[in-house]
Amino acid sequence: MNKIHKFYILIIPAFLLISMGLKQENYQVNNSPKTAFSDSTIKSDETTGLVVSEHLNLVIAHCTACHSSKLITQFHTDRNGWLEKIRWMQQKQKLWDLGEAEPKILDYLSKNYPPVEKVNRRANLKKIDWYKL
Ligand code: HEC
Repeated sequence: MNKIHKFYILIIPAFLLISMGLKQENYQVNNSPKTAFSDSTIKSDETTGLVVSEHLNLVIAHCTACHSSKLITQFHTDRNGWLEKIRWMQQKQKLWDLGEAEPKILDYLSKNYPPVEKVNRRANLKKIDWYKL
């Protein structure tokens, strides 16, 4: 097989794969907002885009007064990280004391907006048998 054949054998499937991928992106009709899970069974609140889940009402009441809910939906961290964010806003951005709502809001945030790596990445490999190149 000469070089030119090899070139076509590689380039044609590559081209097909790429164009299929692009097509999917362009024509996908999916109006549900993306969540950390990209799971179509997860419902999002129509006005805020926040995941519909327990304590959503508290989050809307306390967390969408100053800024767009997008700041929340694009942010992912664990419970501690969310607590730090809240403390930071309380110290620097005049966020009020959340009182009894705080643990509930933290439940909501850590459940629905957890660290991205945990959601999108596979677990670390445990036992790897490297082979010699
Ligand atoms: C008193 C006003 C106020 C309230 C209420 C408020 N925030 Fe904020 N928040 C801010 C300000 C100001 C910023 C910085 C915005 C910017 O950087 O443009 C911010 C930024 C953020 C960010 C982005 C942080 C980053 O580093 O990118 C997140 C996430 C966030 N807020 C979540 C929340 C959550 C969750 C609540 C409810 C517990 C909340 N906010 C309530 C004022 C507020």
